[in-house]
Amino acid sequence: MLKLEEKGPIEQLRAMSVYLGGDFYEGLGAARMELDNANGKGFIYTYDLLPGLSVRTYNIHLKNELKIELDGMVNNPLYLLFCIQGHYFHKFKKDLEAERIRRGQNVILCATEDNPNVAILPNNIELKLSVIIVKKEKIAEQELIKRSNLSNILNDIFAKIGNDMPYRYFGGISAETEKYARVLIENKRTDVIGKLLTEASALNTLAAQLDDRDKYMSGKDKFTNLSKEQLERVVVVCDEISRNLSQAHTIESIVKETGLSAKKLQEGFRFLFGVSVAHFVKNLKLEKARELIQTTELNISEVVHEIGIQSQSYFSKIFKEKYGMLPRDYRDSFLSADQSFELSYRSKASFYIGEGEVKNLVETSDKNNRDIGVTGCLIHYKDEFFQLLEGPKQRVLMLFEKIKADPRHYEIELLWKGARNDKIFDDWGLILVSDRVSENIMSNRKVGMDIKTMLSSKATSNASRSMFWQQVRNQIRSKKMISA
Ligand SMILES: Cc1cc2nc3c(=O)[nH]c(=O)nc-3n(C[C@H](O)[C@H](O)[C@H](O)COP(=O)(O)O)c2cc1C
Repeated sequence: MLKLEEKGPIEQLRAMSVYLGGDFYEGLGAARMELDNANGKGFIYTYDLLPGLSVRTYNIHLKNELKIELDGMVNNPLYLLFCIQGHYFHKFKKDLEAERIRRGQNVILCATEDNPNVAILPNNIELKLSVIIVKKEKIAEQELIKRSNLSNILNDIFAKIGNDMPYRYFGGISAETEKYARVLIENKRTDVIGKLLTEASALNTLAAQLDDRDKYMSGKDKFTNLSKEQLERVVVVCDEISRNLSQAHTIESIVKETGLSAKKLQEGFRFLFGVSVAHFVKNLKLEKARELIQTTELNISEVVHEIGIQSQSYFSKIFKEKYGMLPRDYRDSFLSADQSFELSYRSKASFYIGEGEVKNLVETSDKNNRDIGVTGCLIHYKDEFFQLLEGPKQRVLMLFEKIKADPRHYEIELLWKGARNDKIFDDWGLILVSDRVSENIMSNRKVGMDIKTMLSSKATSNASRSMFWQQVRNQIRSKKMISA
């Protein structure tokens, strides 16, 4: 049995990856696990959509049954589950029997602290499942939810949830939900269009599940008359728009490109993205701008040019409407508060540096790094060092200048530097991973692991450096969890 604690969906997926031996990749508010081993094959994705709202999708074939207990949650979230292929079982821990949940069945659950959720994912079937996770205390503040009918329905459900009785709703088969859930589960794209698709299809799935539960009919036709092939044409044109964002895209030009009527186009965009064509193009430009601000050093007017918006003040206005702050403030907050600059390098250790010197160096560096708000990991393997440092940009760069001048190593080769969307490491100053020190250097801050395997292949090339450090982190965390 896998026990997951309520540390957020990304941490839960990390624990799941360690348990199943899958590869875990983490990005901006999103993570995915890829599994291809004796435990099974497939993917599990997790996305944070808004504060208080996340989604997890399973597209997986397990070789062994997986029993998951979601333990120790004080503020139990509301789970909305929808399976488009296969089946699974659910019970609250104190129930004697688990209930079999069928494909297409609408399920809404909220456990209590002393009677947690237990999910059983069966072996030898294709399981395609979406799980939307709503945190009551946070979601109520969300503008997006407040503006829609969702908030009334959610409030209604929240009012029915007591603290001592778990809440469970096993609804009927919902064809409408299935259409949205399918888009959500089968979308593996993590680029800007992929993010917009996930956001819209998760909100649509949530709305359809809540609608279904309450027989809440808004009168709007939520079904689409577009065929699969027509929907694909919409997605293809979206790709083209995203590749040529600096050009103007009008409904007329898109009609020409797709061969679909303006009415069909609007319907297709509404179905896939929950918004009109014009709104979609605007969202796409904003999402692209946000990505450029985060991941490049382009200044704001260059960003505005890249996304084909004529007026910088108009851009600032719509950016603020969507993300709650001006583009410049967004960049500042990103660079300072998120401590998101990362630098990694490799070097050769000078011949005289031994185990004791490395130990001293790490002890001093750990303290120094904490003082300047930098965190990192130093790998000492054979006669090489690999180091990753993350923190505020200027501090990381200044520290690297000092490190470069240190005679205790040479042939320093920068592997990568740049902004990161998230932190890889925790709040220590410097952790050492070494092949030679068997004793704990600093109680819990020295970790032994299979460095050789990680350093084999092209692990430190640019393309895979992120994955390499991610693996280092996963191993550190799982070792800490095990030893804790
Ligand atoms: C492989 C290696 C990694 C290092 N990592 C750090 C580090 O993360 N933080 C740090 O403060 N010093 C680190 N140092 C030591 C610095 O080079 C430098 O000696 C230290 O920052 C003291 O600088 P000071 O002259 O300001 O006292 C490292 C040295 C080596 C050889």
